[in-house]
Amino acid sequence: MKRYYWMLLVLLGVWVVAQDSSLPGLKEEGNYTQGTLGQVLQPLPVTNAQPDGVYSVGAWPQYTPELADGPGKELVQSYCQVCHSSTYITMQPPLPAATWDAEVQKMIKTFGAQIPDDAAQQITAYLQAHYTPETRKQ
Ligand code: HEC
Repeated sequence: MKRYYWMLLVLLGVWVVAQDSSLPGLKEEGNYTQGTLGQVLQPLPVTNAQPDGVYSVGAWPQYTPELADGPGKELVQSYCQVCHSSTYITMQPPLPAATWDAEVQKMIKTFGAQIPDDAAQQITAYLQAHYTPETRKQ
């Protein structure tokens, strides 16, 4: 009879260890099983919120930053945003003037952007005036 008490004790020990969460400060874990994949579900309201709890990540940068003001901005908006947002421009590190020239040519020659020559020149000048290491302000 006595050895059954031992087994109970071992089971209790395993249960106690399993209760311990692995991340410091973690109060709740998500469950991403096959059953929840692809479902559009409202998140449950947090009912046991604690001031010291770890619940969320920081804000996601989901906005598209405004392009710098200046001559040529409207040309960029009308010709370059046909295929992708202007975030493709603003997310680049400051690029040398020659790289912007090559970039605009690449959009036209490689990706087939329909941009008249004079507009392409003004767009290149705009990018060089605002997005090089020397000229980029924001
Ligand atoms: C015909 C469609 C199209 C147009 C118009 C277009 N692009 Fe792109 N652009 C692309 C594609 C496709 C990519 C590559 C996307 C990827 O890799 O995910 C790209 C990528 C970029 C990138 C990221 C760097 C790179 O080379 O992949 C920049 C910067 C960029 N474009 C700037 C511009 C600018 C400036 C204009 C206007 C002159 C422009 N794009 C117009 C299709 C276009």
